[in-house]
Amino acid sequence: MDSSHYFTSPEGPFQRRSLEVQLAGRSVTVSTAPGIFSPDGVDKGTRVLLQEVPDPAQGGHLLDIGCGWGPIALSLAMRAPQATVWAVDVNERARTLCAENAAALGLDTVLVLPPEEVPADLQFSTIWSNPPIRIGKPALHELLLRWLPRLAPGGEAWLVVQKNLGADSLQRWLAGQLQEAFTVERAASQKGFRLLRVARHAADGQARSGGTGGQTGAGQTSGGGQR
Ligand SMILES: C[S@@+](CC[C@H](N)C(=O)[O-])C[C@H]1O[C@@H](n2cnc3c(N)ncnc32)[C@H](O)[C@@H]1O
Repeated sequence: MDSSHYFTSPEGPFQRRSLEVQLAGRSVTVSTAPGIFSPDGVDKGTRVLLQEVPDPAQGGHLLDIGCGWGPIALSLAMRAPQATVWAVDVNERARTLCAENAAALGLDTVLVLPPEEVPADLQFSTIWSNPPIRIGKPALHELLLRWLPRLAPGGEAWLVVQKNLGADSLQRWLAGQLQEAFTVERAASQKGFRLLRVARHAADGQARSGGTGGQTGAGQTSGGGQR
């Protein structure tokens, strides 16, 4: 698979194409283009996340790490219209398309930015992501440790990862890194994808109950709540 779109501004022509897709139970028209992730529609892993994940927090700041043309960010905004959605991506063309798609759908709560432009003091009540596994382990680890600790107390991150691209070892690694303030668990397994839930315990030490997944002990990877 060509992963060049993960790193750069694509060089080929920026030829937009309209697609009709289902997001948040609505049929919507979006634009995609070559040189970004999944330009032909909603990616399979993204679809698993969007189908399985419980509703996001209804207020505060929500984050999509690696927004691409926007299926996750747009869904967050439709499912939590009162919240602010931060959509970040290193790919400039993807950011342009995500911003255009949000504008076309009247979703003015979506802010699309390069990662480094998100204010450093923001905390997120919900993070959803189909993270860029193919950037390699060191870069992926750095990316996740940059954003997941910015979950607000009581907040949850939901990550979809292909099983044969290391979802289970990533789950164990996350649990080891994030430790006792967080719970890391597999909330669902479907079509070759794992849906990982990372919950930051509330100030009283308890993680919020996870919708599709059960709760496990602090920082553990466990079978609790697995499907
Ligand atoms: C698997 S794709 C998911 C795209 C989109 N969310 C979707 O579901 O179709 C991962 C995205 O992460 C972006 N990306 C790669 N490295 C990144 C980084 N360091 N920070 C933010 N986004 C990054 C890629 O450009 C790509 O758009």
